[in-house]
Amino acid sequence: MADSSRIETVAADAVAWRRDLHAHPELLFDTHRTSAFVAEKLKAFGVDEVVTGLGRTGVVGVVKGRSGGSRTIGLRADMDALPIEEATNLPYRSTVPGTMHACGHDGHTAMLLGAARYLAETRDFAGTAVLIFQPAEEGGGGGKEMCDDGLMERFGIEEVYGLHNMPGLPVGSFAIRKGPMMAAADRVVIDIEGRGGHGAAPHHCVDTVVVAAQIVTALQSIVARNVNPLESAVISITAIRAGEAFNVIPQTARLMGTVRTLDPAIQDLCEARINAVATGVARALGAEAKVTYERGYPVTFNHADQTDFVADVARAVSGAERIDTKVPPVMGAEDFSYMLERRPGAYIFMGNGDTAGLHHPAYDFDDKALPVGIRYWAELIERAMPRAA
Ligand code: NI
Repeated sequence: MADSSRIETVAADAVAWRRDLHAHPELLFDTHRTSAFVAEKLKAFGVDEVVTGLGRTGVVGVVKGRSGGSRTIGLRADMDALPIEEATNLPYRSTVPGTMHACGHDGHTAMLLGAARYLAETRDFAGTAVLIFQPAEEGGGGGKEMCDDGLMERFGIEEVYGLHNMPGLPVGSFAIRKGPMMAAADRVVIDIEGRGGHGAAPHHCVDTVVVAAQIVTALQSIVARNVNPLESAVISITAIRAGEAFNVIPQTARLMGTVRTLDPAIQDLCEARINAVATGVARALGAEAKVTYERGYPVTFNHADQTDFVADVARAVSGAERIDTKVPPVMGAEDFSYMLERRPGAYIFMGNGDTAGLHHPAYDFDDKALPVGIRYWAELIERAMPRAA
């Protein structure tokens, strides 16, 4: 078991790091201050190697156990914040207008730093721990960029693990499932071309507003009628852009939306049906529709053996009664999925207690969760790569 008093000591310091990061949020790949903060701390902890600039502003720390060992395991935290104006009166509230840590990545970064310090001080394992701090989780694909920069190969990572805090789940609780944990998130844009004209003479026009409305309605039939009722999919049209005036039928209209799926076959089905429905409805009404379908973050897929393993780690940290191993998947998306496409591993939810939801302006990471997360990471490394008895 990881050394409890040492974990508590590290966690007490991690509160200050977390609040410092919270006060200085940075967006996407512009995590320059955060990356420097992380790299400086890692060096101060005496880790064996610190590499910066992977995936633009990503940082990697390497800690070797003191008993040799050939295995290498990656642990990942995200560092970026969100374009949200913070609505709290916390003493450490965001100092950057319009930017806040509303997803708890400040907590994720502080916990992995805490684990780095604990592991560097104790080194009570046989193998290598690779601590991955990625930028641009919130839409920029920073995890993918780090992988494309050779993250897995360069450090010889064999398995990789991720974690996200979860409001509504009590602090100290964990939730996970095998297979799809979070959804693939794709973007769709539908451009409609009709024939504009006078609002009083619709018979001389092809009304793109009417076409757009019918496409939106017809798209609802895909999830309702084409997707197997036992599978999951979301198609949300979230923007309709057309027209400027009371008396003009617009020549063009644009729809935008998001598609969420948990299975590649369902993803293919949704893409094909959106294309067919949008172009077919438009043509039936005398217009043309062009569908641009852009695949985003893939499904976050938990590998079976690694999920069993981290469920045991979580049980050791919190007790069996606080671990849910059959949590339903979430239709949000996560770019840790790119790391899980390259290496086996697992992604777990950790309770953040009764706080505002993720991406809410009143959200705050719960500092009481810091020792839980630090212990989880430390325990994971010590159990995955135990020293010979
Ligand atoms: Ni997040």
